[in-house]
This record gives sequence, C-alpha cells and structure tokens, in this order.
Amino acid sequence: MILEPTVAPRVSRPTHVEIDLDQLTANYRAVERAVTPARMLPVVKADAYGHGLVQVARLFESCQPAGLAVAFLEEGAILREAGIVCPVLVMGGLDISQVPDFLHFGLTMTVSSVQAVGAIEEAADRMGTVARVHAKVDTGMGRMGVRPEGTAELLDALVRSPQVEVEAVYSHFATADEPDPAQTLDQIAAFRRVVSYFGDRDLPMPTLHLANSGAVLQHAASYLDLVRPGLMLYGVYPTEIIPRTVGIEPALTWRSRVVLSKPLPAGSPVSYGATWTPDRDTRIVVVPMGYGDGYPRLLSNRGEVLIRGRRHPVVGRVCMDQFMVEVGPDTDVRVGDGVVIIGAQGEGTITANELAAWAETIPYEILTGISSRVPQRYQGSTSRPDQ
Ligand SMILES: Cc1ncc(COP(=O)(O)O)c(C=O)c1O
Repeated sequence: MILEPTVAPRVSRPTHVEIDLDQLTANYRAVERAVTPARMLPVVKADAYGHGLVQVARLFESCQPAGLAVAFLEEGAILREAGIVCPVLVMGGLDISQVPDFLHFGLTMTVSSVQAVGAIEEAADRMGTVARVHAKVDTGMGRMGVRPEGTAELLDALVRSPQVEVEAVYSHFATADEPDPAQTLDQIAAFRRVVSYFGDRDLPMPTLHLANSGAVLQHAASYLDLVRPGLMLYGVYPTEIIPRTVGIEPALTWRSRVVLSKPLPAGSPVSYGATWTPDRDTRIVVVPMGYGDGYPRLLSNRGEVLIRGRRHPVVGRVCMDQFMVEVGPDTDVRVGDGVVIIGAQGEGTITANELAAWAETIPYEILTGISSRVPQRYQGSTSRPDQ
C-alpha cells in the first residue's frame, strides 16, 4: 500500500489515523457472505470514508468485487492513475463537459436525464468508443436519478444508442437505516416496476443494484445483483440502534499524544471564549489536533478521549490545532502519553458513533471529516512493511 502523506515526508506527526487492512478485509468478507449470491460494489468515495482512497481501493480490488463506486470523476481518475483496472462507477451527477474524461479513464457514468445522452453519444462517437453507463432512477430519495415516470424515455434513448452500453440500472434509499421499513419497501416496489421496462420489450435485463449499508443490514429483498455498501465496510453501523445482522468491527483508530501537561489553579479559564473554568486546582493536558484536523468544534466541553485507557473530558473550546483535556489533580498522565480519539485503549473504547452523537451529527461526517492533514498509517498483512 502506498502512503502519500500531505505533511512533509519522513516527519512523523503524533496525530494520525491507523488503519487495519486485515479488519477491512474481514468486514468486506462478512458483508459478502451475508449478501451472496449478490456481488459487491464497495463504495470508496470521500477518501474511502477517511480510510484512504487508493489504499482501500487496492485492497478491495484484490477481493474481486464487481467494481468500485466513487462519487466524482476526479476520484475515479485518481484510481485509474493508481493502476486500478476493475470497473469504477461514478455515482455523482454527470457534468457533461466531463464526458470525454469519463471515456478517457474508462469510468462508468451514472445517467439521470435524457438531456445527457446526446453529449455522451457525441463524445463516444468522436473518440471511437462505447460509453458504459448505469441509469439511475429516483424511486424516492429525491436526489440524483430520473423520476419513475420519465424512466422509459431515458431508457429508450440509452438502449437505442450504439455508442452506449446500459450495464446497469440502480436507485438509492432514503431511509434504509431507519426502523420503519415502509419507504424502503415502497422504493423496492417502485424499482421493480421501473425495470419491468426490459422484460416488457424482450430486452435482456441489465444488472440491478440498490442496497447501501442500512439495506444490507435490514432489507435482504434489496440485494438484487449487486450491493453498494460504504460505511459498514469500514466497520461502523449507520446508527446505534440498527440491528447488527452482519458482524463488523471498526478498522480505524485516531491517535494523538499529550504534548503539554500543566497544573491549573481553580478559577483559571481555558481556551477561546473562556467557556470552562475549573472549580478546583486541577491539571490539564494539551492534545495537538483540532478542528483543522476534523475534530469538530462542537466537541468543546462535550467530547471525551482515552489516555492510559481511561476517559477524560475535553475542556474549553476546541481550537484549530489543539484542544485541552482535564486529567485531574492526582493524575498519572504524562507528556508523551498516547491519546485515543476514536478506537480502543486498555479497557476503554470510543466509537465514531459516540463522537457523532456528541457533535450532533452522523458517523459518516466524522470519518469523512478527518482532514488530509492527518497522516494515514496502515497495518495488517496486506500493508507494505515500510508503512
Ligand atoms: C448512491 C450511494 N450508494 C451507496 C452509498 C453507500 O452508503 P452507506 O455508506 O450508507 O453504505 C452511498 C453513500 O452515501 C451513496 O450515495
């Protein structure tokens, strides 16, 4: 695995994420076993949910999925330049000025409107190639995708075109991770109606895919030909209450180190805005990371970290590059001690879901928010010894 740090090479930063490639493989295989005979289309967008786009794509490609899914052309281009050869589906909206680049990099486009078809045909014709597309239907997400009533017109245009190969049709769920199944079941039914287009015309059925992590966990009826999980491959459940029907474990540990420890007399405020003041003589430590690394400022006076296996509270406002932790007057915590922001240490564990709850958000935002300033280090049998 190649690590491309955005900080100076050979300078090791105390703040980093550690990614266990063997755990990622175990999660992949657990999902695969649960959904078989459906095949895998793992989602590696947004830097593989903070785990490293190229490194994770290489790992998952070695698991022989049906393909990989990203959000943007740019992510797909990075994968091609890194030597990824399997099919790569770009799920985001198609900017037609980018169609030649899709064709150049051999990336699969998501087509949601009949207006895009002309531009695809024209570019494919000019470049002497055939565009691989997945048609997207909006069965209730209200985002990308053609509305069901417009699907026949879009499919007519795509199917008729010699410059286009409709490899698949797909849709996306809005509520698959919620306890009430009603909307997901409606979306599955709407999708089935839409794809009857092919049977009705004696056309071969393309590949069909629907399921994100929530649907993998709760809706076996949505597995179809491929599943498209993201979050759960990284070992994180979309919510705390979703049934854990597939066993997965987090693969990422976010670490830092104590760089300063000092006594703080009662009444001395901490950080911008002076929002926290101890009412006893105590001791605080400084952790060299902040919202510039993706540690949400909403964790000011709310977050907790692990030091020496015990939880300690974040006190005062989280700054761009630092935050402070109260360790109490009689502590054994020392400068140089490891700090765990997400992950396990000793008997303690802090999850991405827990951080998300404190920050009033979802684990997706926590993981994808870890900034490019935080180096990624890889562990596991599939990583290179120099990592
Ligand atoms: C179209 C699409 N499919 C699949 C996924 C994967 O979803 P999850 O990470 O919940 O499994 C996403 C992620 O947001 C998505 O946008």
